[in-house]
Amino acid sequence: MQITNTQNNYGLVTILLHWVMALIIIGLFVIGKIMHDMDYYDPNYHVFPWWHKSFGLLIAFLFIFRLIWKWKNPKVSHIKPNKPIELKLAKIAHALLYLLILICCISGMMISTAEGAGIEFFGWFDIPALVANGEPQAELAGEIHETSTLALIILASLHMLAALKHHFINKNNTLKRMLSSKIN
Ligand code: HEM
Ligand code: HEM
Repeated sequence: MQITNTQNNYGLVTILLHWVMALIIIGLFVIGKIMHDMDYYDPNYHVFPWWHKSFGLLIAFLFIFRLIWKWKNPKVSHIKPNKPIELKLAKIAHALLYLLILICCISGMMISTAEGAGIEFFGWFDIPALVANGEPQAELAGEIHETSTLALIILASLHMLAALKHHFINKNNTLKRMLSSKIN
């Protein structure tokens, strides 16, 4: 079992980070949309946001770890696509996915801490508020959060379609490499 990345393959840690984060992000999006439509008398009115914020913070921590891991590991070379433009698009899409995750986390934290309260991480500890400018901050961050989370899900869906195209149409190892560290 290969733990770290090699020039040709993603290692176990990168693969686990990719799929665990993808699952949590999709879950956060679904819960976020349910929260958005909830009325005050719903029994989950306080429960869902509590889980959403804890898992949101988990994504923020995993994101930091993922960047450090990526930086410390050998760069995995891309599988040569048929058209060079595909490689450019893939690189842009990956960079944008990282950027959007960052924006989603920062805006989510800015909504939650607008009144000065910290964010509870699964009841273990609190992340304190860094800036607390009240209602205007919550409103602006809310709009950024709504737009950036939607953009992230749309881009991730296109990214998934591209991965499926590589697998079923081009029949190369792009998807297999993200599923097992033993390909090649
Ligand atoms: C540190 C991370 C995060 C925190 C603290 C956080 C916090 C919040 C809060 C407080 C809300 C309620 C907003 C409101 O009442 O206007 C919310 C909404 C939402 N969040 Fe997050 N969030 C985080 C990350 C994420 C991520 C990574 C996603 C995934 C895509 C996500 C998806 C959503 C969605 C879809 C909504 C509903 C937006 C709407 O339609 O208004 N959140 N989040
Ligand atoms: C919210 C969901 C997702 C996010 C945020 C996401 C994000 C990313 C990122 C940032 C990379 C680049 C990794 C790197 O080189 O540093 C990547 C690679 C990859 N992702 Fe995803 N992903 C998601 C869902 C999916 C899904 C659903 C699939 C396939 C069904 C998929 C398949 C792949 C594959 C095959 C690669 C490797 C691409 C290559 O080697 O060029 N991803 N993903």
